[in-house]
Amino acid sequence: MLKEINYNDHSKEMLEALKAGAFLTVKQGPRINTMTIGWGSIGYVWNMPVFMVMVRYSRYTYELIDKASDFTVSVPLHGQLKGELAFCGSKSGRDVDKIAESGLILKDSKEVASPLIDGCDLYFECKIMYKQGMDKDKLNDFVKSKCYSDDDYHVMYFGKIVKSYLKQD
Ligand SMILES: Cc1cc2nc3c(=O)[nH]c(=O)nc-3n(C[C@H](O)[C@H](O)[C@H](O)COP(=O)(O)O)c2cc1C
Repeated sequence: MLKEINYNDHSKEMLEALKAGAFLTVKQGPRINTMTIGWGSIGYVWNMPVFMVMVRYSRYTYELIDKASDFTVSVPLHGQLKGELAFCGSKSGRDVDKIAESGLILKDSKEVASPLIDGCDLYFECKIMYKQGMDKDKLNDFVKSKCYSDDDYHVMYFGKIVKSYLKQD
């Protein structure tokens, strides 16, 4: 059962767990794909709670999210779904139906078209308010050499958190 929570009720656990991976799921038209993310932030801007995710141009997810109006983030907090996170973080939805192949089960969201991934603990439904491709000329040299030696930059998607839930036993 999912209990509705305030967007930042569990942000400390969320930010810790994010390093190990969470599922960024997008539905665009008939296409649904999920990929593992390890970077992101939760904040409060434009008088609204916002989840910011970073998607490199090379990802299949980029093709979807750039035309979509929403996304979800599903976060395992207890180390579960490790194999699924590794799979969805190494295979591309261009080549394989990752949800079918990994046996992940989708759950309908309440407010957005993109679904949630069953079996996680924390969920965020987000409506995209702003997107911004990185400007490499404004990037710190250290970060550029450490994270972008292949010129595969990120696009940042800022989604208004319209619903957030915690799984209850
Ligand atoms: C732990 C982990 C964290 C990751 N974080 C991100 C991320 O924040 N942004 C990103 O673009 N790719 C990230 N990736 C890589 C993508 O998940 C990976 O390239 C995936 O295969 C892309 O799938 P897609 O082509 O179906 O979109 C991460 C991978 C792992 C294993």
